Amino acid sequence: MTTDSFTIIDNRTGKQYELPLEHGNIRARELRQIKVDPEEFGTMSYDPGYDNTASCKSRITFIDGEKGILRYRGYPIEQLAEQSNFLEVAYLIIFGELPSKQQLEEWSYQIMHHTFLHENMTGLFHAYRYDAHPMGMLISALAFMSTLHKEASRVEDAAVRLKQIYRILGKLPTVAAFCYRHRIGRPFNYPNADMGYTENFLYMLDYMHQTHYEVNPVLAKALDVLFILHADHEQNASTSVMRSIGSAYADPYSAMAGAAAALFGPRHGGANEAVIRMLAEIENEKRVPEYIERVKKGEFRLMGFGHRVYKNYDPRARIIKQVAYDVFNVTGTNPLIDIAVKLEEVALSDDYFVSRKLYPNVDFYSGIIYQAMRFPPDMFTVLFTLGRAPGWLAQWVEMLTDSEQRIARPRQIYLGYDERDYVTLEQRG
Ligand code: SDX
Repeated sequence: MTTDSFTIIDNRTGKQYELPLEHGNIRARELRQIKVDPEEFGTMSYDPGYDNTASCKSRITFIDGEKGILRYRGYPIEQLAEQSNFLEVAYLIIFGELPSKQQLEEWSYQIMHHTFLHENMTGLFHAYRYDAHPMGMLISALAFMSTLHKEASRVEDAAVRLKQIYRILGKLPTVAAFCYRHRIGRPFNYPNADMGYTENFLYMLDYMHQTHYEVNPVLAKALDVLFILHADHEQNASTSVMRSIGSAYADPYSAMAGAAAALFGPRHGGANEAVIRMLAEIENEKRVPEYIERVKKGEFRLMGFGHRVYKNYDPRARIIKQVAYDVFNVTGTNPLIDIAVKLEEVALSDDYFVSRKLYPNVDFYSGIIYQAMRFPPDMFTVLFTLGRAPGWLAQWVEMLTDSEQRIARPRQIYLGYDERDYVTLEQRG
């Protein structure tokens, strides 16, 4: 018997099983040998929400939820936010190492020269109602891109994958900007490859043919940091969807559309929009204690609080809170920040939240910055999508190149009817 294993005794049969450990964990498949009757299927693990299930081995992002640690390819998020930029972090996440100067120049050139949309696609945006939610537009725009690049389904070809990665990272800001411009009834600004990544994005959102127009560098930098903070986050719901759709060998545009759809949910990336609506509903600091009491009664959840993995302060929330004040120096403060700070103060001194280890997460402060930058709340998850795109793509490539990975197909514990015969309409009650 090796020490790097578990010994399990099945009390139903008295049989003993030795399960080998791999990186300190067992392969769920090893449980299948535990049976009472040799003919039966065998034992599974039951894990709703995959709270304690590793679906893959990954080398991209590491989170220590108890200590509030987040690292991309080993680099602490605090250092990357302080010293790097979004395109460089995207390269790191996808390729595993920080780029050389030449690699970064080539990477940036390729992405900034894949920013234009097919003109048919530009027409897509005019098909939406004026008040269509930008995430609905973005999700369908990603599916539309799938119809334009048929070679993208050759997912086993590394060169084809890389070309789609350039296109997705290059075109997503243009898609996001066109969604916004459609919503406000303004003409589209076409991308400008002479600008930086976030600078070009802000330009496409904001330019109104002024003779002298410049993107504010503080806002471009703040948005770049926010994109870095959102770039990847282990096997969160939307990343799991990206991997799952990708495991069926669907093209990356279709997989991204699915991942964005998952992110749209208010329990996931849609929370930043819900936080703003919650803070606006609270209206002023004096009403915070009353609101907290309603949350504790279970009337609703405190949006932007809590996390499946972080049982400590989300390190991203801490950095975002600092970035907020840089933005306010340019835009003027957002009064909602005072309500948010008060909410955090009251919640973190209340046992209901402390005992459940509920702390502010990435969404708690990000919306306040976006609103101060004059983004409407329904654009916030679109911004989350722009940040998370390199993470989804990196996880997709890692899944495709992992020889242990197969099509995602979980099992179930069937508790439905046993076999029964069909009952005709006449015989039914
Ligand atoms: C993101 O996974 C990721 O990495 C996601 C993300 C990423 O970068 O991809 O970090 C981005 O999605 C951040 C989370 C944004 N969502 C919100 O802020 C929505 C509000 N938060 C919750 O809905 C909730 O905290 C989740 C969904 C984030 C986590 O849910 P879990 O892990 O399933 O926690 P749970 O539902 O089991 O809750 C445990 C307890 C429950 O109380 P009891 O049943 O034990 O009495 O904590 C309570 C919950 O009711 N609880 C909350 C709460 N979150 C959990 N109570 C009040 N307010 C909350 N926000």
